Amino acid sequence: MIENIKQVHEEVKVRISEVTNLEQLEEFRLEFLVKKGKIQEFFGQLKELPNEQKREVGKELNILSKFTENEYNQLKQNLEEKAYTVSDLDLTLPGIKYNLGSEHPVRQTINQMIEIFKKMGFSVAEGPEAEDEYHNFDALNFPPNHPARDMQDTFFLENKFDKVVLRTHTSPVQIRLMENVKPPIRAIMPGRVYRNETLDSTHLAEFHQIEGLYIDKNVTMAELKATMMHFARVMYGDDIEFRFRASFFPFTEPSAELDIRTKHSNKWMEIVGCGMVHPNVLRAGGIDPEEYTGYAFGFGVERITMAKTQLDDIRKLYENDIRVLSQF
Ligand code: PHE
Repeated sequence: MIENIKQVHEEVKVRISEVTNLEQLEEFRLEFLVKKGKIQEFFGQLKELPNEQKREVGKELNILSKFTENEYNQLKQNLEEKAYTVSDLDLTLPGIKYNLGSEHPVRQTINQMIEIFKKMGFSVAEGPEAEDEYHNFDALNFPPNHPARDMQDTFFLENKFDKVVLRTHTSPVQIRLMENVKPPIRAIMPGRVYRNETLDSTHLAEFHQIEGLYIDKNVTMAELKATMMHFARVMYGDDIEFRFRASFFPFTEPSAELDIRTKHSNKWMEIVGCGMVHPNVLRAGGIDPEEYTGYAFGFGVERITMAKTQLDDIRKLYENDIRVLSQF
């Protein structure tokens, strides 16, 4: 009987090595591992043997039985894994979605505007958000009693030495630039500004501006106008209408505001305040107004973003609602 067991052992080895799919494996199981299979048959015969032989034959039979089961189980696992990856892979199932972060719409506008002005030869400069009153007001030709300095508009910071404010606009960076760079100067200055405003659908107490300054010999208002129009056309498309309105800023003379109207909207929208740099401002920056002239402009970035995205409420930009932000 030992001989027969050993023979079946050899047979199992050969047969298992020939199995290549689950169907063949099932045939293998039916032949060797079921109740009426070859191995159980030996166990039946074992009972009939005289006691002195049982030990030795039983040992051999156990080896065969364990070996066959192990081989079977292992091959079954391998074949099932393979079968899964090949035939049960459903390429039409929806995939796993990973949400990537994205640039905030206001940052997108800033970057887009920087690109447009860079192509026109402007460089980028920055200044402090906590600014002294001299740079925020005095050097920009604000008279000492100008209402914009009032507590209602300006956040004052406590400081022992001089009066420091949260800058109410990016124009003080004009002065800092003139103090540090000799003309020609051609730069834009993006940044955060602060005003003590009541919040509503068009006003925030903290927002962004992009300031522009161009100083050289013989700079004219015609160049300012052309630059503003070129910017607006790149930003909003060629078929927009323009309206330059006379305006007032202490630091520019003459001053203007530019409104645009796009094809889709019938509302005029103010996009920028601008003008020719006031001689007092050039002087405050150490530049001779007899030799140089220049223009300056200041965009409200949130307003530009609202027009671009057709958002109707400026506050929506800062509520961090993914349903709003993920649209842009
Ligand atoms: N600083 C002005 C504002 O905050 C905008 C401006 C900048 C106007 C430069 C003219 C020139 O409203």
